[in-house]
Amino acid sequence: MKQKILTAVALAALCTGTAFSQPRLTKDNIDEVIAAMTNEEKALLLVGGHDSVTIDGTDYGCPFSACKAVGSTRAIERLGIPATFLTDGPAGARLSPTRPDSDGTYYATGFPVGTLAASSWDEALVGEMAEAIGNEVLEYGCDVLLAPGVNIHRSPLCGRNFEYYSEDPLLAGKIASAYIKGVQSNGVGTSIKHFAANSQETNRLENDALISQRALREIYLKNFEIAIKEARPWTVMSSYNKLNGNYTQQTYDLLTTVLRDEWGFDGIVMTDWGNKEGTVKSAKAGNDLMEPGYQNEVDRLLAAINDGTITEEEVNRNVRRMLEYIVRTPAFAKYAYSDHPDLEAHARIAREVADESIVLLRNEKQTLPLSGGEKVALYGVSSVDFIAGGTGSGNVNRPYVVNMEDALTGAGFTLDESLANYYRTYAEHFFAGLALDPKIGGRILLGSVKVPETPVPASAVWSEAKSNDVAVVVLGRNAGEGGDRKIPDDFDISNVERDLLRNVSAAFHAEGKKVIVILNVGGVIETNSWKNLADAIVLPWSPGQEGANAVADILTGKVNPSGRLPMTFPLSVWDNPSTKNFPYNYSGNAHPAKEPVRNVDYTDYEEGIYVGYRYFATAGAEVSYPFGYGLSYTTFVYDNPRVKATADGFTATVDVRNTGSVAGKEVVELYVAAPEGGLDKPAVELKGFAKTGLLQPGETQTVTISVDNYSLASFNEASSAWEAAAGNYEIYFSADVNSPKASSAYTLKKARDWPVNNVLARP
Ligand code: BGC
Repeated sequence: MKQKILTAVALAALCTGTAFSQPRLTKDNIDEVIAAMTNEEKALLLVGGHDSVTIDGTDYGCPFSACKAVGSTRAIERLGIPATFLTDGPAGARLSPTRPDSDGTYYATGFPVGTLAASSWDEALVGEMAEAIGNEVLEYGCDVLLAPGVNIHRSPLCGRNFEYYSEDPLLAGKIASAYIKGVQSNGVGTSIKHFAANSQETNRLENDALISQRALREIYLKNFEIAIKEARPWTVMSSYNKLNGNYTQQTYDLLTTVLRDEWGFDGIVMTDWGNKEGTVKSAKAGNDLMEPGYQNEVDRLLAAINDGTITEEEVNRNVRRMLEYIVRTPAFAKYAYSDHPDLEAHARIAREVADESIVLLRNEKQTLPLSGGEKVALYGVSSVDFIAGGTGSGNVNRPYVVNMEDALTGAGFTLDESLANYYRTYAEHFFAGLALDPKIGGRILLGSVKVPETPVPASAVWSEAKSNDVAVVVLGRNAGEGGDRKIPDDFDISNVERDLLRNVSAAFHAEGKKVIVILNVGGVIETNSWKNLADAIVLPWSPGQEGANAVADILTGKVNPSGRLPMTFPLSVWDNPSTKNFPYNYSGNAHPAKEPVRNVDYTDYEEGIYVGYRYFATAGAEVSYPFGYGLSYTTFVYDNPRVKATADGFTATVDVRNTGSVAGKEVVELYVAAPEGGLDKPAVELKGFAKTGLLQPGETQTVTISVDNYSLASFNEASSAWEAAAGNYEIYFSADVNSPKASSAYTLKKARDWPVNNVLARP
């Protein structure tokens, strides 16, 4: 194929009679290479390699290899420009585990999903995980990881929330920064996505997100702003959706005015995987690369270059950015990748990340940790069909998934064998049924369906309660790209699940035995109506291939839980301020009606900045578990809070002491309440956080968090400026948004403002 491309380009140039210089691309001759490029070559470079492209009868080939990656850029070999390869993300490198030309296997480590990573509240740990992910990208011969996904959890129902981090833009932005730096430390790139306001999957290609400038700046762009300024990702992926009337990928003010001029982004922007008619508009807006890349996109660009619809300056600007990207890649350096990353070492990291991020939601009368040798009645089909990650492009083809069964046995527990057999046999039958279904073929790259829950007769539960020491019930949920979650049987638990919880609770409690629930879910579920049935609730999310071992580590106390919720668990989904403007009951195809359909064709972000805890804390509304919440097997006291002004903000310091009897880590969450007088503000906002090291009983660690004045500011639409009002800012050192443990104050003597461009207004 390579030979063919070389020949084709050379021939094409000769045929058109171009006076032909042939520099070879180096880091220092990009302008010379651009000057030597034909219009055809420029158009080819701005479109990914999905199609085998033909121009004027000449076949320019196709570098795309589904085995290797989900996307590519094209080689122009006469100029020494190599093809580069792009692979998903975010929970690991999504590659085919087998290749037609090889008997070997090429699995990638299934790391925990983004939501679990954010639950660590630990940037260093996320950086360590991302470094391992980036190493797999490098060693499998790819150049860019299509991650992290940082879209805000506007609604708990968004089908891709598991890939994303949080309802809070600071937490999302900081975790994304750590992830980007970790991946890119390998000399490969990242693509932070999906820019921007891609908060639902329903009609995701066309949905128009209608958002006030303030909410956009403070919530839906802030996450990107933080990560892009701090971590400098090589690439940004524009989203499929529209934002205030225009496709994001075609919006100059988003991709150039804000992203590049205001934030200083200097990498490439690529589209999400589609093919919209406005290719030329996208290129002009600053969308450098069309992915995955189709013939008609090359045709549109070439025609526009030839007739001047897109100026030479605009084309060369994008081409230059592409070449600046390419000279950074392993492909350009001809990196001799091994195809053999250290999967065992990475599996250990995957387990560590899950260990440090699992959230303990409930632990009545110190139910946990268990002593380790108990006889366990293990309920729930997810105990044998454990959900390591989500479906769609966020799936990873991992070598194995440890089941709860194996993890508990490995940790020394004895399982009720007949119960285990019951679930195993049921799941095996289910899978056997699937294998007969031809529609399931080809799912390997995208992940599989979830085995539905199955009832256990109440009489069986009562006898299991007699013969076992403790009940562990695993509730599972799977979600993924292309669809949002539903309320019945998904956000809300199903009748089968409720019956199971009721029966298990009644039977085991009658025997004086404990019930532990494991939430093996990708997103928030309703907990308020049933949590009293459980003595302990452990939330491991979808924790990757090793996640069940991490759950066992928490159950036995080998690891003391230190994860915290990166979002609110409301009492009911209806309490969430976005639910009435979310497609919770929509199923079907886009554009069924002549009139635009609310929440499908467009979505009104009516709640403005009051997303997640910003709403619940301000309204004083009761929740099931608040933002930032998570229990530990030990206790911490916060002493000596103090705030010191710095040149452009303050540092907030507090001493954290482990007052319990086991070692543990504490997350210190720094919330700020702004003074009256400026714009209306949420009751508090997260402005920083830090996690202690492992503190032994009695040990103290002094934690210092820096905050700058800019991050205290809110966006004033009237003046198109970020504004921080003068006055006293209350500073809370908290264990969750509703639990301040110590406080101090910071005085901003003079109001500050930071004007920006008045762009992206709601129509
Ligand atoms: C997803 C992206 C993904 C791309 C490539 C798209 O459908 O939205 O997140 O990176 O496919 O697989």
